[in-house]
Amino acid sequence: MKKINVITIDGPSASGKGSLSKEIANSFDFNLLDSGALYRLYAYLSNMSFTLNEIVGQIRKNVNFDLNDKELLINYLDNDITSDLRTEVIAKTASKLSSIKEVREALFNIQRNFYDGGVLVADGRDMGTVVFNDAKLKIFLTASSQERAKRRYLELQNRGQEVNMPALIADIEERDLKDSSRELSPLFPAEDAHIIDSSNLSLEEVFSITENLINKEFI
Ligand code: DC
Repeated sequence: MKKINVITIDGPSASGKGSLSKEIANSFDFNLLDSGALYRLYAYLSNMSFTLNEIVGQIRKNVNFDLNDKELLINYLDNDITSDLRTEVIAKTASKLSSIKEVREALFNIQRNFYDGGVLVADGRDMGTVVFNDAKLKIFLTASSQERAKRRYLELQNRGQEVNMPALIADIEERDLKDSSRELSPLFPAEDAHIIDSSNLSLEEVFSITENLINKEFI
């Protein structure tokens, strides 16, 4: 299989994939795909009673992504909806909708189109197993559910959202179970993925491990 210039970063929610992917994209000036944001956008737009085809059209025409040094901003019709997409309610709806075959198929081409020949960092659940199974470098990032709940707690608190730690741990474990036991594209590491457990590692330490892998593969 011909390998393409993609780095896939898969893993469960709040494993640090988002921060790592942004750090890599910014440091190396690579393109970034946050596939979870597409599922969240799908959930957000389905609340507005659009049909599946209309949602795909809305995402293609009216959504744009803007990576600054801190975060990936998501604009819909020129409004910044990043915080609206990062709520636990949208995350739960996105997780539910992501088990529907038609939804995954509709988002498949949009995700594939993020690859334009330049190096792409693709963050998600099935980047290395399905969408970019032909990627040159695959990372599977994981961490304990307690540690991931702690990280999500801080993230939501920083956004000024109400959070409850026991509820957050329960939500994360429920979502893990759904994401890894669904029939279509379940969450699991690709055969050729490098597995990194970040429970006891800082973002800098995880970045340094991946930086070495990137230097070997791409530079
Ligand atoms: O990474 P995230 O929390 O933003 O993702 C939100 C939901 O979208 C997640 O619970 C499952 C789904 N998802 C998916 O099924 N496949 C992906 N590649 C990315 C996300």
